[in-house]
Amino acid sequence: MNAIEVTNLHYTYPDGTHGLRGVSLCVPEGACLGMVGPNGAGKSTLLLHLNGILNGHGGVRVFGKPVHEDLQAARQIVGLVFQNPDDQLFMPTVFDDVAFGPLNLGWPEERVREAVTRALESVGLTGHGDRSPHHLSLGEQKRASIATVLVMDCRIVVFDEPTTGLDPRGRWEFIDLIRDLPATKIIATHDLDLVRELCDRVVVMDDGHLVAEGPAADVLADQELLEEHGLAKPLDG
Ligand SMILES: Nc1ncnc2c1ncn2[C@@H]1O[C@H](COP(=O)(O)OP(=O)(O)OP(=O)(O)O)[C@@H](O)[C@H]1O
Ligand SMILES: [Mg+2]
Repeated sequence: MNAIEVTNLHYTYPDGTHGLRGVSLCVPEGACLGMVGPNGAGKSTLLLHLNGILNGHGGVRVFGKPVHEDLQAARQIVGLVFQNPDDQLFMPTVFDDVAFGPLNLGWPEERVREAVTRALESVGLTGHGDRSPHHLSLGEQKRASIATVLVMDCRIVVFDEPTTGLDPRGRWEFIDLIRDLPATKIIATHDLDLVRELCDRVVVMDDGHLVAEGPAADVLADQELLEEHGLAKPLDG
């Protein structure tokens, strides 16, 4: 079964900028899909449709159901880790941010406390629960953002630039963390090493279009394609 099905999706921002110009995409359950493309290609715009934050023209289905038919249900299934932690963290403490989703779903307090403790531990933030998210370093904020999604046990986890701003050790820890997640994963990134490590398939986006799709090894070996879409430095000579 397809976890995600996007059909001929168009989106124009209120100021008239075209974000998506007709994108179709299927992500089978259990896949780990990489999404690459230059700045402004439309990656974040597409990801924001997958749990209904944006609502363009065309179809977006999650496990067969149109996202906008039941937004709350869709958001329990699709966890989105934003590119910018400021979009994800808005509570007075890290604990409150990670507990926000489960509390909204009405989980009992004890279950929330256990789940938050586990989520913070899995991103290396044990002991930081009482801190203000604004006082964390960028890398720590990225970890806290991921914890807000991990805590929900989502069947689909969507990451927008998960490794940007992380130090090398943190980056590899994150790659391991994402690898071990038992979910369907979609990862928009400029980090081609991450794609090589984690993704079975890759889509390339440019200018609001999906311009290529294939097995990760094939797409990443296609120097001409990577150059054409600003993903690799042209080889000398
Ligand atoms: N809030 C907004 N208002 C108007 N235009 C926007 C907005 N957000 C994005 N855009 C435009 O939509 C297009 C797609 O942007 P998007 O953020 O989806 O690209 P991206 O592939 O995620 O890029 P990056 O690699 O820089 O994160 C760009 O032309 C961008 O300028
Ligand atoms: Mg983006």
